[in-house]
Order: sequence, then C-alpha cells, then structure tokens
Amino acid sequence: MVKWRGRDVSDTWRLDHPWASVYSFGMAHRPIARTAGVVGFGTDFDRMYDAIASIGDLPAGSTVLDVPCGGGVALRGLVGARRIRYVAADISIAMLARTRRTAAGLGVEVEPVEADVADLPMEDRSVDLTLSLTGLHCFPDPRAAIREIARVTRDRIELSWLRSDAGLRYRPILIAGRAGGLVGRSATADEVGLWLAECGFDAEIRIEGAFAYASARRG
Ligand SMILES: C[S@@+](CC[C@H](N)C(=O)[O-])C[C@H]1O[C@@H](n2cnc3c(N)ncnc32)[C@H](O)[C@@H]1O
Repeated sequence: MVKWRGRDVSDTWRLDHPWASVYSFGMAHRPIARTAGVVGFGTDFDRMYDAIASIGDLPAGSTVLDVPCGGGVALRGLVGARRIRYVAADISIAMLARTRRTAAGLGVEVEPVEADVADLPMEDRSVDLTLSLTGLHCFPDPRAAIREIARVTRDRIELSWLRSDAGLRYRPILIAGRAGGLVGRSATADEVGLWLAECGFDAEIRIEGAFAYASARRG
C-alpha cells in the first residue's frame, strides 16, 4: 500500500500526496482557485495574485525567491517582466517538476532548487522579493521558516497562509488538513507580525476568511 503520510507535514508534501496535484491544477486555473477559495476559505485569493503581479514592477537585475513554489502558480508574474533571476524552491521533487513544466509552458526562465525553507541555500540578503504563498501552514516550524526567509531577503516578503486561528467556521478544514498530514501547526496573524518584526520587517497583515496575507518590508 502506498504511504501518503510522512514524519511531519513537509514530509507528507515531499511524498507527493495526491492532494498536491489536485491543488496545483486548481491554483493554475484562477476561476477554480477563486471559486474554491470563496466557498471553502472565505477568500478569493486576489491578494495572492496581486503579490504575484507585483513581480512585474521589479527593476531589471532583481532576484525573486519563490518558496514554496509548488506547481509554479507564481511564474505567471514573470511573463512580460524585466530580466530577473527567479529561484523556485520546494522540498518536493514532484512539485519542482510541475514548476519546470509551467515554466516551459509560459516560456519563462527559472532556477528550480530542491530545498527546505528552514535551510535555504542562499546568501544573506541576496533576494529582493521573497514570495511564500499558501506556505506557512505547510511547514512544521513556521517561525523558523520566517527567520530563514528574512535572512535571505533584502527588501520585501509576501506571505499568504491558512491561519491557525481561522475560527469555528473553518475549523473542520484545519482538522481535516491536519488529519491528512497536509497542514501543520500554522500561525496566527499576530504571531506572524511578531516573528517578522523580530527579524526587522514591518508587516501589513490582512485577514480574509480563513487566510491571512502579509506584505512586509525591511524596516
Ligand atoms: C499548498 S502548496 C503551495 C505551493 C505554491 N506556493 C502555491 O501557492 O501554489 C505547499 C507547498 O509547500 C511545499 N513544502 C512543504 N514543506 C516545505 C519545506 N519545509 N520547504 C519547502 N517547501 C515545502 C510543498 O511541497 C508544497 O509544494
């Protein structure tokens, strides 16, 4: 029998749980993502797609880190953007393969890297913009992830995640996600604001349904 549950939440994703391909397909098709978001999570994910579109505002020569890149939903931000270095990191080889296919389909260049968000193979402050979309709730230690993302980021961090304090209405989703091994401890909006501040980043955080969106700049 195939084993889909790993030692921790990251390990379950690394095993390429069947949900990973369903999720990637949904995210790649914005109307599906929007409908599922509104119905299931009380958010249309527009803030996430806005963060992706902001790649187009970066000057030539910028470096973007996308961790976790998943199936490459954020790569669409590269279409029409100036020439930038785009590092797409994920712990799952299957997800990185999906990102490669997405890049080929869009005709954009990325550097896929197999990496744990808690131990990124990048220099301090070597990244202008880090995107960590629908990510924090998939990491065993979201605080360690923020610390490592902040270490490598020079300027701006964009985060979106399923909140640990999402409220009664969304409790069944959290419980089911945790039971399936796909959702970890996660974090509240206050915790994320505090952890970012500890790392020298000022964050604007918006709560929408079960999700929160943080846009943070180094202070
Ligand atoms: C819900 S998906 C989000 C992917 C993408 N950002 C998106 O919005 O479509 C979560 C991703 O986190 C990755 N992941 C889980 N733990 C990780 C870790 N410790 N380091 C890097 N990636 C991790 C999984 O492999 C998966 O691709």
